[in-house]
Amino acid sequence: MDVRERTKQLQAEFAAKGDVTGWFDALYAEADGNNEKIPWADLEPNKFLVEFAEKTKLQGNGRKALIVGCGLGDDAKYLRELGFEVTGFDISPTAIEWAKKLNPEIHFEVADLFNPPKEWLNAFEFVLEIYTIQPLPLDLRPQVIDSIANFVMPKGKIVVVTRGREDDEIPPELPWALSRKDLSQFEKNGLTQTHFEEMWGDEEEPIRRFVVEYQKD
Ligand SMILES: C[S@@+](CC[C@H](N)C(=O)[O-])C[C@H]1O[C@@H](n2cnc3c(N)ncnc32)[C@H](O)[C@@H]1O
Repeated sequence: MDVRERTKQLQAEFAAKGDVTGWFDALYAEADGNNEKIPWADLEPNKFLVEFAEKTKLQGNGRKALIVGCGLGDDAKYLRELGFEVTGFDISPTAIEWAKKLNPEIHFEVADLFNPPKEWLNAFEFVLEIYTIQPLPLDLRPQVIDSIANFVMPKGKIVVVTRGREDDEIPPELPWALSRKDLSQFEKNGLTQTHFEEMWGDEEEPIRRFVVEYQKD
């Protein structure tokens, strides 16, 4: 079965049992070390992040960064190379074990963004979120964004890379793209948008992404 079809099937199976996050670990476990079985895991840093970082001359300068839903850790590795002090977390124990094997020098933890360690609140100068909001159910979206916004300290920054859609478009299927209206939930958390860019992928049918940066007041 096609990898994306299997992903949708697992998501639906777990959702039917009222479990909206269990399918991630099931997918990583089923992949059994083969990243080609995970639709988003290409063992490369996200190319929209790289484009943003190069354009804005992003440098860590020792800043503390948190990578939300870090998966196998390629973006954590990239931020470390840019000079950030990186913590990556994911709800999937299998993903975190795999990420640690690939990047033993990086600090990775199993954690749930809905119930994170208290010491992470308002604690990071830089927070990176790539494709973690979009596979979680639409009715949880404000809660997911509130949780991500809570990690950043005053004057700190958040960068979001996500599939994008218009406000009046209904996202047909997993992953459920974000609209500008969805993103405005970050502003309700005291963040100001400092960069917004639309980027298109090089897929056969190009997919629209939003790359957005916020700063906390
Ligand atoms: C679509 S994947 C993207 C992974 C990675 N950011 C990337 O771009 O390669 C979403 C990731 O978020 C993680 N995730 C989902 N819900 C989460 C939660 N509540 N807390 C922490 N991580 C979560 C999943 O296990 C998965 O690794």
